[in-house]
Amino acid sequence: MRKIVIAGNWKMHKTQAESLEFLQALLPHLTETSDDREVVLCAPFTALSALSKSLHGSLIRVGAQNIHWEDQGAYTGEISGAMLTELGVRYVVVGHSERRQYFGETDETVNLRLKAAQKHGLIPILCVGETKQQRDAGETEAVISRQIEQDLVGVDQQQLVIAYEPIWAIGTGDTCESSEANRVIGLIRSQLKNPQVSIQYGGSVKPDNIDEIMAQPEIDGALVGGASLQPEGFARIVNFQ
Ligand code: PGA
Repeated sequence: MRKIVIAGNWKMHKTQAESLEFLQALLPHLTETSDDREVVLCAPFTALSALSKSLHGSLIRVGAQNIHWEDQGAYTGEISGAMLTELGVRYVVVGHSERRQYFGETDETVNLRLKAAQKHGLIPILCVGETKQQRDAGETEAVISRQIEQDLVGVDQQQLVIAYEPIWAIGTGDTCESSEANRVIGLIRSQLKNPQVSIQYGGSVKPDNIDEIMAQPEIDGALVGGASLQPEGFARIVNFQ
């Protein structure tokens, strides 16, 4: 059985105090949530410790948004696997398009980060997706296939979540048609050695489109940016029908 994983990606939002406030507002909405759903909050590094302590014993897992491939060293601004696991972190987003676009992340560094995450017992959420230009040029399948092939070299497919995030759908309100997301996710699955990997859809997921997205047979969850910042809205997404 493929696990359902609903993850919030807070990006560079929320101080520690704001994170705890969010949690207080979210938790009462999750008392009826079935435990076959994994709920993850991928927060800024500064909020991980406080979140982790407040979540102890709850169903929610804490996730980070980056991890370096070395265990330690002269890498100003980076964070190691041990630094994350010490705080109770369980997941880490790797290869998000914003990191590929603005911070020079390549398929090679994504691959190194994925392997480092697994080495430290973290479950990486690998993000892949095409730009609008690539989609318009009919290159979607080739781009995704290349990312999957290069990013997953030597990566354990038992401890992995993948998120299909078409870049043109991120933060734009322009959600990918759920049937199209289902099609691309099916293609991704066909390229995997382990067909049981949970594959999420991400890109303008909202309370009013989550039910339709999750009704698609290939889609095992969602990676939610903007709509994960509001506790009521995120609760509605987690509690999809
Ligand atoms: P969005 O972001 O939900 O705000 O479109 C998704 C993501 O970047 O993971």
